[in-house]
Amino acid sequence: MILVSDILSQWVNAEFKRLFNDANVEIPSTGVVTTSNPEFGDYQCNDAMALAKILKKPPRAIAESFSKGAVLHPALDRVEIAGPGFINIFLKTDWLANYLCIMAEDTHLGVPQVGNGHTVVIDYSSPNVAKPMHIGHIRSTIIGSAIDRMHRFLGYRVISDNHIGDWGTQFGILIMGYRHFADKKALEESPVEELERLYVKSYGKTKEDESWLAQCRQELVKLQSGDPENRKLWKEFVDLSLEEFQRIYKRLGVSFDLIRGESYYNDKLKAMVELLEGRGLARESEGATVVFLDDEKLPVCIVRKSDGAFNYATSDLATIASRVNEFEPDKIVYVTDERQQLHFRQFFAIARKLGYRTRFDHVWFGLMRLPEGTFSTREGNVIKLERLLDEAEQRALSIVQKTSPEMKPEQQKEVARAVGIGAVKYADLSQNPQTTVTFTWEKALALDGNSGPYLQYAYARIASVLDKYIEKYPSTNPDNFPLKLAEPIERTLALILVRLPDIVLRAAETYKPSTLADYLYDLAQIYSTFYQNVPFLKAEEGIRESRVRLCSIVAKVLRTGLNLLSIDTPERI
Ligand code: ARG
Repeated sequence: MILVSDILSQWVNAEFKRLFNDANVEIPSTGVVTTSNPEFGDYQCNDAMALAKILKKPPRAIAESFSKGAVLHPALDRVEIAGPGFINIFLKTDWLANYLCIMAEDTHLGVPQVGNGHTVVIDYSSPNVAKPMHIGHIRSTIIGSAIDRMHRFLGYRVISDNHIGDWGTQFGILIMGYRHFADKKALEESPVEELERLYVKSYGKTKEDESWLAQCRQELVKLQSGDPENRKLWKEFVDLSLEEFQRIYKRLGVSFDLIRGESYYNDKLKAMVELLEGRGLARESEGATVVFLDDEKLPVCIVRKSDGAFNYATSDLATIASRVNEFEPDKIVYVTDERQQLHFRQFFAIARKLGYRTRFDHVWFGLMRLPEGTFSTREGNVIKLERLLDEAEQRALSIVQKTSPEMKPEQQKEVARAVGIGAVKYADLSQNPQTTVTFTWEKALALDGNSGPYLQYAYARIASVLDKYIEKYPSTNPDNFPLKLAEPIERTLALILVRLPDIVLRAAETYKPSTLADYLYDLAQIYSTFYQNVPFLKAEEGIRESRVRLCSIVAKVLRTGLNLLSIDTPERI
């Protein structure tokens, strides 16, 4: 299916060319945009302004010639001109209804399969071993998972790769902490918490004690060169942490194609540095091996430290080489917090110097704040993700107990799980990723604002309308009746519904799940006006079926959209 906006943009452009090409100029084309006010049409084109500059005529005159001379597309009822030269485009209502019906039957709800034949590697979540996943990691997991799902829905072959931080300076610190302060009992009872305590304690000592720091570094180098005892300890830390991460992924409904830690690339680091040296890209500086990035106006990037240890950038370069070789991706997308922007710019630049033509995108997000302040793992003052999820489910349960007292306790719990987790996810996804999010329970769980529960509730309400219809008219199939958009609110609803494909495409391409979240919220609000203002089940036959059809399309779009954001849609709340 072709997007409505593309159909109209192509038409506008072709007509502009036909009407004005005697001037033999390049016709600029930005195409059409949606309008916010129905008075200005369903779509609007502003290209007369740009053309006016080129043809040196008033834009209003150009828009007028367009509206007089253009041959209307079969989708159109009329065009009007307004203001200094806006072209307002009005769709035929029948055409709109017909387009919507075809879209609703399409397996991808009209979402174009632009990803067919293309591969994308998405690197997200990527927590660090021996540190509990905290609320900061939730953003990478949740935003990454939505980007992942949207790309799959667009037809891309997606390789989701959880690039666990299982190799790095923290292991020297941790091994020292483990050797000197481990509490065997605590390790058995709550391993990751204990590992974190050991890390924090040892890290604290590196700040006060130079020789402790040196020993930590030594343990790290020993580990990196394959010392069997340190390897064994490391393996234990990794296994314990992975167990905890998996528990959280299960709760969040997130899964990966690959969980390849940094350690997977360990034996490729030396060769990477040699390659950089061989190409004349890296050279020695004060005992370390570095790549100068003066042309890119970026600070120098160390790829091997003076003590022989390799760096984060070296590891990411080896990772690119391996991924490109194995998957031949069109693009590699990384989702991390904003503090890593420089790191990504540096190793992307080095990868370009090495000749990689793959597209690399760093999707960064602001930190998540609770009113008390920002999270930090280093100092050990963490509010753990699991506790946050527990609390979300508990709070959701007391809401469900109030809204659905008749529901069986087991089902209430099940629904509370979907609502609680959905609320946390939506609170994150509905924000522009590049802003600092302040998380509050009131906002996340509000049943009447832009929240996950509000959308889930809207969906459940539609599901119950549809159930009631089936109960009352068990032998009628509404799909056998034409979809009529008689009331203005029905037409408004149809107009927003046919925008879904555009929205999914834009949200995926710009890596902004919030675009989809905003759309779903608008849709739910328009639906709610529709629901409150026109009769459904009490309407006469034909109108009733048409409205029920419209309802079920709204349900399908809401369910699909929320699912792309990895939010469950219970049929009852
Ligand atoms: N483990 C890192 C962290 O928690 C994120 C890794 C992101 N991916 C990458 N390829 N660098 O900060």
